[in-house]
Amino acid sequence: MKRVALLGATGSIGRQAIEVVERNPELELCALASGSADLAVLAAEHGVSHTQTSGDLTQLLEVSDPDVVLNAVVGFAGVGATLWALERGVTLALANKESLVAAGALALAARERGGGLLLPVDSEHSALFQCLEGRDASSVHSLVLTASGGPFRGRTRSELAEVGVDDALAHPTWSMGPKITVDSATLANKGLELIEAHFLFGVPYERIEVVVHPSSIVHSLVRFRDGAALAHLGYPDMTVPISFALTYPDRAATDVPQLDLAGGLTLEFSAPDLETFPLLALARRAGELGGTYPCVFNAANEVAVAAFLDGRLPFLGIAELVEEALGAADGSTAHDLDELVEADAAARGLAERGVPVG
Ligand SMILES: NC(=O)c1ccc[n+]([C@@H]2O[C@H](COP(=O)([O-])OP(=O)(O)OC[C@H]3O[C@@H](n4cnc5c(N)ncnc54)[C@H](OP(=O)(O)O)[C@@H]3O)[C@@H](O)[C@H]2O)c1
Repeated sequence: MKRVALLGATGSIGRQAIEVVERNPELELCALASGSADLAVLAAEHGVSHTQTSGDLTQLLEVSDPDVVLNAVVGFAGVGATLWALERGVTLALANKESLVAAGALALAARERGGGLLLPVDSEHSALFQCLEGRDASSVHSLVLTASGGPFRGRTRSELAEVGVDDALAHPTWSMGPKITVDSATLANKGLELIEAHFLFGVPYERIEVVVHPSSIVHSLVRFRDGAALAHLGYPDMTVPISFALTYPDRAATDVPQLDLAGGLTLEFSAPDLETFPLLALARRAGELGGTYPCVFNAANEVAVAAFLDGRLPFLGIAELVEEALGAADGSTAHDLDELVEADAAARGLAERGVPVG
């Protein structure tokens, strides 16, 4: 039996994870966490006695003694749980990319000490993990992250001036929570994933490419030094990476249909439009600068997305706010979680001041 602590149980990933657990008799839920949603019914349905709503999630992890932590919380709120699991060598199935982006170096040091497994749940990183598994790092030429391009692919910057929340939430291929859906519309999500890939796989930024691939069938690729490229293909369905991470290394069966190649598949690729979607280039710059710049990028983006979703900031204002926060931050390295929390709070303060009042 694998005991799974599911953090973010009421969200898009959380709900799909519950279906994976229900399907696999060797998995059981031992803890559930949410931000504000009531967990009583869910806990009763699954016989879970440990639940927590918001606050310090490490307390829940301490008492529930999980074998696997599935961190599917949205945003920086997931950072404590990520570090808790890595430090103790408890397997971490990571959907909460923001924690690895913000706490990258601290997370890697904790993983080194804890010696446990870090299994990405982001579909692109799950794909890269599978293409890289068992290969020598020296044989890897580069990583290629695919991006659907979001609902505004092909638009110009001026065409985005008037887009609203409903337009941004209409993602063409993935059904996800509101924050990541807006991040996909701005390409900030791919920026976060670029930084996430750097920390997960230890590959320098100049050897991680992003390409737009509208049908989201190829989840990512690894290029090797001999000229071969290995890709991971499948219909866009988060069940696959969630199930892969929770049942690793067994690769349990799912209900996801097999790829129908003879039925016709379109595999188109193109370069991202960095002028219309500047957050991807800003993320790359933040990653290359290092220190707490990725944390600042993430914090300012969280503030900006929340303001956009509340109708307090126009769509194009999201990138402007993040750029201003990066320009104003000193980016100095955080040596522990307290310093990281301080850097995050400072960046949030900077970004909040940039949100128009009223
Ligand atoms: N959805 C996808 O397909 C997908 C794909 C790849 C990666 N991810 C990543 O997975 C994470 C979750 O995404 P999502 O789409 O599932 O988001 P979501 O639908 O908005 O769900 C977020 C979950 O986090 C909980 N939460 C929020 N703040 C919390 C806090 N302070 N403490 C504890 N729980 C908290 C929410 O609880 P309430 O319901 O109470 O608000 C909810 O259960 C994000 O980091 C995202 O980038 C998602």
